[in-house]
Amino acid sequence: MYSVRKVTKDLYWVGANDRRLTLFENIHPIPRGVSYNSYLLTDEKTALFDTVDWSACRQFLENVEHVLDGRPLDYLVINHMEPDHGASIEEVLLRHPETMVISTEKAFMLMRQFGFDVSGRMIEVKEGDTYSFGKHVVTFVAAPMVHWPEAMVTFDTTNGVLFSADAFGSFGALDGQLFADEVNFDRDWLDDARRYLTNIVGKYGPHIQLLLKKAGGILDQIKFICPLHGPVWRKDLMYFIDKYDKWSRYEPEEQGVMIVYASMYGNTEAAANALAARLCEKGMTNVRLYDVSNTHVSYLISETFRLSHVVLASVTYNLGIYPVMHNYLMDMKALNLQKRTFGIVENGSWACKSGTLMREFLENELKDMTVLDAQLSLQSALHSDAAPDLDAMADAILASMH
Ligand code: FEO
Repeated sequence: MYSVRKVTKDLYWVGANDRRLTLFENIHPIPRGVSYNSYLLTDEKTALFDTVDWSACRQFLENVEHVLDGRPLDYLVINHMEPDHGASIEEVLLRHPETMVISTEKAFMLMRQFGFDVSGRMIEVKEGDTYSFGKHVVTFVAAPMVHWPEAMVTFDTTNGVLFSADAFGSFGALDGQLFADEVNFDRDWLDDARRYLTNIVGKYGPHIQLLLKKAGGILDQIKFICPLHGPVWRKDLMYFIDKYDKWSRYEPEEQGVMIVYASMYGNTEAAANALAARLCEKGMTNVRLYDVSNTHVSYLISETFRLSHVVLASVTYNLGIYPVMHNYLMDMKALNLQKRTFGIVENGSWACKSGTLMREFLENELKDMTVLDAQLSLQSALHSDAAPDLDAMADAILASMH
């Protein structure tokens, strides 16, 4: 059975949801699933914008055929060639020998690399080119590294729809609601939208900034943002654009403290709890604790983008940083995370090294990070005589907030 939504006059969402996939890109947990969005324009010519992952192809094809209602599919516009959107291209082309594919030179190269035969069916476009489907005239805008080098976004100048590719996407399957104004976005979607953006495209903040700058030039003309994942935006666009602006500039959304602890027997965890209580007593109640061993790093990264301050509390392991904590630090580096303030709590029963090593990593491997001088050093456990040190650490964190 088809399952489609009308976006606006003669434009339909024909994508599909996947609630069976447990790991997006086989790495990021998606307990709420994911949607692969595709859109079909039924102008004088018909044009399909992007396809879906192979896992959702059957539903997608049914949706496309329903909206086409026997008409030919004249064009397939490919904004992004990552297989979560491009995997079904070949199937569409097999079923529709009449279809011409509109995309960038790099995307056509990737299609060939992935083994798709598009010879004789290519319409190559570049930044600034326009194309008419009848009433609708679209213009193509390069969006390199948002999220792959071939990516572009397409703007329909007739109805103000921006097909934004991976930009403005989110993890989470669509439960019938297509539009962001049909859900409680802040409560139910924002965390997954942040986790999606920061983990998938976080490394390419400057490229997102470039795209935002281009969008800024036509902001008054954009009426809809149609991403390749998650809800479509037709109201309050600036709310989400502002979030993207913050995330891609690596600016925290909120003043707050996340305490990430690596604890083998509960003693470092106890110190983390004690510090959290001190912070709250002193008035900073926006505090979250995370056990690094039991929290997927994609959630830690997302929270690190959200909050201004991070306390790393780690045992020493094999004379080094606890491996899972080290992995979190490496992920911060890979994603270009910057502009955060750190506190350090170290623990070691016989050779305490983790504090020095974490400080060196933050100062030498990451950009524009502030590491507070105040540091808590534990020998096996935090004892009551360390209460002044705990206070000093909490005070230093609060003093560094503005
Ligand atoms: Fe949703 Fe970069 O693909």
